[in-house]
Parts: sequence; C-alpha cells; structure tokens
Amino acid sequence: MKTLSYLSHALLACIPLSNAHPGMGEQMLEMRREANRIERRSSKELIGDLKTLADSKLTAIGKDIKAILLDQKNAESSTIDTSIPVGGIGSAACKADLCCHWKWLSYEMTAKFNGTSGRCSKFARQAVRLGFHDAAVWTKDSSYGGADGSILLSDEMSRADNNGLAAIADQTNKWYKKYNQYGLSMADIIQFGANVATVVCPLGPRVRSFVGRKDNSKAGPTGLLPGEKDSASVLLKLFQAKTIDPHDLVALVGAHTTSQQHFVNTARDGDPQDTTPGVWDVAFYPQTINNPPPRVLKFQSDINLSKDSRTSSAWTEFSDRNTGQQKWNQDYAKAYTRLSLLGVNNINDLKECTQVMPVQRNSFTSEDQVVLDRWLQGEFDQLNNMVDDAIQLTGVVTGPGKE
Ligand code: HEM
Repeated sequence: MKTLSYLSHALLACIPLSNAHPGMGEQMLEMRREANRIERRSSKELIGDLKTLADSKLTAIGKDIKAILLDQKNAESSTIDTSIPVGGIGSAACKADLCCHWKWLSYEMTAKFNGTSGRCSKFARQAVRLGFHDAAVWTKDSSYGGADGSILLSDEMSRADNNGLAAIADQTNKWYKKYNQYGLSMADIIQFGANVATVVCPLGPRVRSFVGRKDNSKAGPTGLLPGEKDSASVLLKLFQAKTIDPHDLVALVGAHTTSQQHFVNTARDGDPQDTTPGVWDVAFYPQTINNPPPRVLKFQSDINLSKDSRTSSAWTEFSDRNTGQQKWNQDYAKAYTRLSLLGVNNINDLKECTQVMPVQRNSFTSEDQVVLDRWLQGEFDQLNNMVDDAIQLTGVVTGPGKE
C-alpha cells in the first residue's frame, strides 16, 4: 500500500501544472488523474465479511466483489441472457433456476421504469434513490442497518429523509408481496431495482447485480442520510464513515442528472436538477457549476461538492465532453456496488443475476426537445408531471400560444 502511495506522490510532484507547456496541459492533467487514481486505490476499504476472509476462502463472486471494491475490476457487465424464462412465475422449473424469478421481475421493473419518450420515469429515479436510502443508513460503527430492506420493512419511510419515495415504496412493496414467496429478499429487490432503473435510463451503466442479502425489519439508525444544505465537509465526513471516498461520492451524486425534485422547494415541484431529467448523461456536472436555464434547480449540497478542493477535480473529470460519460459510468458502477453492499455480512455467499437485466442504451435522441426547451425556460408548468412520467411530449404542445 505504502509503495503505491509514495509512487503517486512522486508522480504528482513531477507535475507542477502551473509550469506546464500549454500543449502539454491535457497530458499533464491525465497524468495527474492517474496519480490520483493510484493514491485512491491504495486507500480503498473492504467491507462486511470480505474484511476478514482470507483470499483462499473466497468464492468466485467474493473475489470479483473484492476486486471491484479495491478498484481493480470494472463493475459493469454486458452479459445478457436473451432466452425466455425457463418457466412461469411459481412453476417448479422457475423455482429451480436461481435467476428465473429475477428475470420476471426485471421485465416488470423495465416496463415501469421506461417512459414513452425513451427517458426513464419517476419510478426509475425513485428506485435509484430508494436503493441509496436503504443502504446508506449504516456506518463502519453500526452493528445493524445498511442494504437490509429495512426502509420498507420497518417504519423508516415515516422519516422526512424519505419524502419523495412514496410511489416507488408502494410499487416495491407490491413486488415484494409477489416475489418474496419465491425467496427474493426485500433488500435484494430494492438493490436490483436500483440497478435495473439505472440501465433503463438512457446512457446509464449496466451495474453487476448480486443477490442473497438478508432482510431486517429493525429500523436503521437515524441521522445518517445527507441533507441538501450540507457543506462539503459534512458530506465528506458522513460518506467517509460509510467507506465512501470523495471521488466515489462525486460519482454517486451524479445520479441527480436524472432527478426532478419535489420537496426541496415545493413551490417549484417537479423542477429538474439539469436540463435532461430522465437521461443518465453528464450534463448535471457542468450545469451545477454554470448557469443552466431557469427551471433547473441546483441543490446547495451539489454546488458545495462541485467547488470544494477535495471534490472539484472529480467533478471536472466527469464534466469532460469526450471522456466524462464513460469514466463516470465506470466509477458510478464501482461506487454503487460498494453502496449496495453496506452492512451486508455475507458478501462471499452472494450469487449473480446480472444477465437478466435489460440491455444498456448507449445513445438517446430527445425527440421532444423543442417542447422541453420551452419548459426549461420556465413555461408550461403543467408539463411537470408528464416530464416526471417520461411521457413523449411531441404533439402535446406544438408552438407559441398552444398551452
Ligand atoms: C450529497 C448527498 C446527497 C444529497 C444531499 C441528496 C439529496 C437529494 C434530494 C434533496 C433530492 C430531491 C428529493 C425530492 O425533493 O423529491 C434527491 C433526489 C435524488 N437523489 Fe439524491 N442526494 C444525495 C446523494 C444521492 C446519491 C448518493 C444518490 C444515488 C446513488 C442519489 C440519488 C438521487 C436520485 C436518483 C434522485 C431523484 C429522485 C426523483 O427524481 O424522484 N442522491 N437527492
């Protein structure tokens, strides 16, 4: 570990950016980022049973997850099982197959998360946030909490932190009622939902999905979720206690690229956090720093992270028009894998059902952009709910005066 750290410091010391030859700027920046990567990799923490298990005791999945957590392996996968399910829901054939019921659930989730505009719906975005809010109620010192389903199995939903999650909570409870009898835990349904939602959003990464988490109906500890007015220092400390480093935090909050807020400013119910709600692009990062159209409502917490010296370089890295998307998807996938396993103490025994998730969508054309642009300028408030539902707007409003 120490060798890596010295190496990265040495690399950094060789790169005084201010003295760089103008043409060398990009190259120097990339070298500096690589040095940062080496530094970060050396301080990655293990979690759960992986903290104590010897390598010789690790299963293939345990080894893969350990490598992902140590930033040595990608957490995205394009492996897809295109065959039809081996049997119907509840059939003997389906019960005998590890991922068969997950495949049926994946179909249901995909239908709910995909809107007619091709953007992802409010259910998708809430599903990502639900996954975060179940898992993040945990710190290194907690003896319970984390990705254990407690957000829906206890009274956690009555906490103000969880305002805005009612629709997905209701839907997820229905999925749980239907599929738990076939062995699917609430904790897994929530995390699988977050990953299906992410890949259904255009341009979103296809994050590997592991199953086998245990449920807990005891409400998790309070005070462990972030607030939208928090300073960068408060946020960094809060996430560090969950083993999430500053770079990974920046990657994770990028999920706000899809968001439409409802409770931060109720007078602006439905206003997005960048100009492309329901799309997993990187527009959110530069727009948080710059001046987006008036309907975009920036969270103070995001502004704070974009400016802080400990997080601003990652923010800039993901903003890059050419390389940002791929870099962000990769880093988000790794960071979300860690988040989705907080508080899980049987990581080595998990199984994988990534293959039943829908295909990734690497490009997206916004066919109703003309209408969206007017909406983003502050017109047509009545479209808020339709954008939230990812409805195709072309034909709804066609020009000036046609409200
Ligand atoms: C700095 C830490 C964070 C803060 C302060 C924060 C705060 C918020 C707030 C206030 C909302 C709006 C809720 C509403 O009014 O309906 C929101 C939405 C959202 N957050 Fe975060 N969040 C943070 C980190 C994260 C992380 C780590 C993720 C996921 C990995 C995430 C995913 C989302 C998503 C997807 C939405 C959109 C929900 C929707 O459109 O309904 N957030 N967040």
